[in-house]
Amino acid sequence: MTRLLVALFSLSFLFACGGGDDTGGGGGDEGPKGGTLTLAAVLPISGPNAAVGNEASDAVKMAVEEWAPKFAEKGWTLKVKVEDDASDPKQAMSAAYAVSGDPTTFGVVAHYNSGCFLPASEVYHSAGTMAISPATTNVDITLKGYPEIARVTPHDGVQGELTADFVKNHLSLAKLAVIHDRTQYGQGLAEVFRDHGGTIGLEILSFDGIQVGDKDFKALLTKIREDKPEAIYFGGLYDEAGFLVKQMRELGMESVFISDDGSYGQDFFDVGGSATEGSILSFPGTPIDKLEPAQAFLAGFQSKYGRPVQNYGPYAYDAANILLTSAMGAVDAGADSKGMRAAVVQGARAIDHSGALGQTKFDDKGDTLNQRYSFYKATDGKFEYIATFSQGE
Ligand code: ALA
Repeated sequence: MTRLLVALFSLSFLFACGGGDDTGGGGGDEGPKGGTLTLAAVLPISGPNAAVGNEASDAVKMAVEEWAPKFAEKGWTLKVKVEDDASDPKQAMSAAYAVSGDPTTFGVVAHYNSGCFLPASEVYHSAGTMAISPATTNVDITLKGYPEIARVTPHDGVQGELTADFVKNHLSLAKLAVIHDRTQYGQGLAEVFRDHGGTIGLEILSFDGIQVGDKDFKALLTKIREDKPEAIYFGGLYDEAGFLVKQMRELGMESVFISDDGSYGQDFFDVGGSATEGSILSFPGTPIDKLEPAQAFLAGFQSKYGRPVQNYGPYAYDAANILLTSAMGAVDAGADSKGMRAAVVQGARAIDHSGALGQTKFDDKGDTLNQRYSFYKATDGKFEYIATFSQGE
């Protein structure tokens, strides 16, 4: 069904593009240059992950504001278009069609949830629209090797394995229960953790799925309590993580609560309250406050929006800047509106970008070469840094 929709869309898109509506005003390679260029952002602006989605979309808007005068000098009007996927795969597909159906869209900062990017990547691929994700980590996203798909986050093959190693070598814990939220992200990550954990000698006592949106996990936790796990690993997002840790403590469970990048945000503390104390979380990269190149972005974001960066803002900012740098490269190389998407795909995939996250380059599948994760301990409502690892360390 998805394939049929993508095929139908491709046809209608080709007709739309071939119909002569060229905002750039160019009818071919020799035509006049200039027109409108739109950078799209498709993120959860509403729904359970709205906090992270709004931070990321604000970072994209900030990048576009910074670049707009440079494009104007060259005769191009730069615009930003934000669409809400609400963390819902169906809404993500509609938004992907909408932004790709606009011939002025040259690239998309696309999706927080792996469950959204996995289906929507078919749309971007089919439309030839470069889509860079600021946050999705499921391993399968880059497996097809589509040239239009990339991400600036290290993937869950790395996150799951490094977390299992960290649990064994640094926390010295051995017996764990694993819970996941049945999403492609949470379950996929929990499976990597379980499988790698098994190979390095962790004892995985149980492996259970919960439902996103549920708020009462006491029946499951009561069952898990019987096994006396030293820790519970949860693959999922911050709301469910907050309820889980809160109810663990209400049931008198002292197991260490360990979770992931999807739980790393203020909502974890807002939902879990003081029960979050001592929890261990992983998040991509080097801590942002220790990254020298990120400081200008962090200060700029705080002064523009009056709130600090929590998690994926710098990732969205770099994703946007990679697309904008590629579009400017295409403009400088004389691309017109029709050639813009293909030129941006080529430029983005070959880029060596110096941004808030430091240097970003993509491998041949579209994964960033920055494959490291840091670990944090929840302490007094803050994430206290412990250590950073990459595979092989
Ligand atoms: N990294 C999380 C995901 O891929 C947010 O869904």
